[in-house]
Amino acid sequence: MEKKYLFSPGPTMLPPEVVLKMAEPIMHHREPEFEKVFAEIREGLKFLFQTKNEVLVFTSSGTGAMEGAVSNLLSKGDKVLVVRGGKFGERWGEICKAYGIEFIPIDVKWGRAVDPKRIQEALTSDPSIRAVYIQATETSTGVVHPIKEIGGVLRRVDGTVLVVDAITGIGVFDMPMDQWGLDVVISGSQKALMLPPGLAFAALSEKAWKFVERSNLPKYYFDFKREMKAIQKNQSAYTPAISLMVGLRESLRLIQQEGLTQVFRRHERLARATRAAVKALGLDLFAPETPSPALTAVKVPEGIDGLKLQDLFFERFGITVAEGQDRAKGKIIRIAHLGYYDRLDMVMVISALEMLLHEMGHRFELGKGVKAAEEVFLG
Ligand SMILES: Cc1ncc(COP(=O)(O)O)c(C=O)c1O
Repeated sequence: MEKKYLFSPGPTMLPPEVVLKMAEPIMHHREPEFEKVFAEIREGLKFLFQTKNEVLVFTSSGTGAMEGAVSNLLSKGDKVLVVRGGKFGERWGEICKAYGIEFIPIDVKWGRAVDPKRIQEALTSDPSIRAVYIQATETSTGVVHPIKEIGGVLRRVDGTVLVVDAITGIGVFDMPMDQWGLDVVISGSQKALMLPPGLAFAALSEKAWKFVERSNLPKYYFDFKREMKAIQKNQSAYTPAISLMVGLRESLRLIQQEGLTQVFRRHERLARATRAAVKALGLDLFAPETPSPALTAVKVPEGIDGLKLQDLFFERFGITVAEGQDRAKGKIIRIAHLGYYDRLDMVMVISALEMLLHEMGHRFELGKGVKAAEEVFLG
């Protein structure tokens, strides 16, 4: 017998309660029964995003909402800032390019967070900048960016919006959208929301909606105004992923039951234990200064092939961890702890890591990583 486990930062493991709901006979999306589901989802999402604004739901992967946050907010001739500290920061630039939007990159060394002062300086030196695009967690490097501080910078700039890709962030750590002055917050279903891929979310502040009113870039499927009209009637403009929505209602219920504070505390603890464990094995973090509570990016020790290590996780134990992308390929592995994970899940993945490193010739005392994790949990 072989079990399978996902420790990748999306998709993540699914709670049985959610899976069972999604297996129920499908309903029709124009029936009152579905409207009730949608009404509950709307409230749950506002709770999760910590906003009084509407959270739009799209049937797409997260990138769809990212694209929408460019095509719906900007107009021809606009100029924006893009924070690029990994694959997903680069994606913001690629989307801007596809829409003919000029962007000024703020390049950050992979594994580091952006300094909000750089954003402040860029905005001061060029007041024509209309938006700042960034990630909450840059999933390719395991870094968390200082979103609260950047929100503080943007609050003082009337003509510029802050757009946060929180696909790896919402439901992991505290990011009260309204309180921090975040203008657009994006998320996706296959991370802390404990669902399969297929849903994307976008919440917009009043300031952001003014940008939408003016926007003249081409758009069709990802049309925020059209979707806003529909959602107010507990509808979506087009056929939604009905079963995923039913699953979403359940995952939002689970999150509400646990409570946001407890959800954030759990993630923080799982992250702390994972970091302590890998350090105890003599490994270094890829983002030592600002590691994310969503995932831990670990440098593979000298002489060990990271891709081979990732393959062996699956071959030996049925565990999927993520490899490094692009320039980090073969150099890091990424272990996720966002969504449906608990203490023993982390003890298990650390134990597997120990056995594999041992097999690959890395010398350390067996059990040291597990012990370090246990000490965090007991502490
Ligand atoms: C931070 C971040 N942004 C964007 C994406 C892209 O989302 P999707 O693959 O759902 O389009 C991901 C997915 O891993 C992500 O982690």
